[in-house]
Amino acid sequence: MVQITAWRDEVSSAKNPASSHTLLTIVLSNLDQSLPLFQVKKFLEECTSDIPEAMQQSAKSLTSYELISAPFDLSPNVITLLKSPSNSQVLILLCNAPSEAQLSPSFYSSTCPNALTTIRTSIRQAVSRERRMAASLIRLHFHDCFVQGCDASILLDETPSIQSEKTVFPNVNSVRGFEVIEAAKREVEKICPGVVSCADILAVAARDASAAVGGPSWNVNLGRRDSTTASGSVAKTDLPSPFSNLSTLISAFANKGLSARDMVALSGSHTLGQSQCFLFRNRIYSNGTDIDAGFASTRRRQCPSNSGDSNLAALDLVTPNSFDNNYFKNLMQRKGLLQTDQVLFSGGSTDSIVSEYSRNPRTFLSDFGNSMIKMGDIEPLTGQNGIIRRICSAIN
Ligand code: HEM
Repeated sequence: MVQITAWRDEVSSAKNPASSHTLLTIVLSNLDQSLPLFQVKKFLEECTSDIPEAMQQSAKSLTSYELISAPFDLSPNVITLLKSPSNSQVLILLCNAPSEAQLSPSFYSSTCPNALTTIRTSIRQAVSRERRMAASLIRLHFHDCFVQGCDASILLDETPSIQSEKTVFPNVNSVRGFEVIEAAKREVEKICPGVVSCADILAVAARDASAAVGGPSWNVNLGRRDSTTASGSVAKTDLPSPFSNLSTLISAFANKGLSARDMVALSGSHTLGQSQCFLFRNRIYSNGTDIDAGFASTRRRQCPSNSGDSNLAALDLVTPNSFDNNYFKNLMQRKGLLQTDQVLFSGGSTDSIVSEYSRNPRTFLSDFGNSMIKMGDIEPLTGQNGIIRRICSAIN
């Protein structure tokens, strides 16, 4: 099964020029003939929902490994595999997978040319009303993307059929900015009803928020659609806890296709915004060696050892309202607020990235933009998948 999955990933980049959809294929060579047929069928069931009825039928009636269909461009590695005499008996199953379609910055250029300026106006207003909102919006996009992809699932309210992500740790009483996204959506609906997804508005809002406080800007990929479901339970497992160690953080990001360098760059958004006392209390009372004693005592003043759970402190003690690289300089002085901030510079494999960003702000700013683009590309719903919600907190 492992081998099939590897091949599936390998060939999923093969493009069908006719439909512009990426075709997901599974190739089994005679190397896998030991694989029980029921496993092949089970694997088929996972992907048959997207394939045409006729092909579903032939998949169901599969009695042996055989060629079903291959009307698409195969990647060179797969062609080599097919040509190999030792792989003469080959099964190719085709799953049309529109979810693999590419996002593009020009997605709305004909269907809603003023979408981006409309969103930007909304976000600028919100950030000028409250500067912290820039931080909150960047975080909202992150917490959306890490839970079943960037599909605006975080915005859905609880209903009998929707298990909201808003109400679970680490979102509850913590993520902010829902009303700002809803207001931007209202403005966009006025000019192009039913066209622009909430997931895209979240991605654009994060970019505009960064730019509004002097941070980098980038071309946002667009074309995401909105989910009809949410998952509080995935939010609990897939969003990193502020008490994690370095290897847990690295693997939480790796699970989403992001490298350790992406993780360090993205954590640099802790140059903005605030944290509640209960999330860093252990660290400032630890008397540990990885925290500056003066910094710990300053932070204890607003964060008593047994009260004031929700008291706030800036994540970047030097310039909490501007997007700069002081966050990394703080880490090198053992003045990171969260445990997960300081673990990025505590003798481990990411130390060199932190010191690079502290020396070279331009590298940080450009890496940050690139990593935000990568994060925004996590498992989008595209094509026929998902919906365009009319309001972001509920399905149509
Ligand atoms: C590396 C793993 C991460 C952990 C464990 C983490 C954890 C946290 C925690 C505990 C807070 C404070 C929440 C509160 O007090 O209610 C926070 C705030 C924040 N996080 Fe992260 N974070 C991580 C990565 C990221 C990433 C990847 C981004 C964005 C790309 C991000 C953006 C922010 C921002 C901007 C704030 C301030 C929000 C505000 O003031 O409203 N964080 N984070």
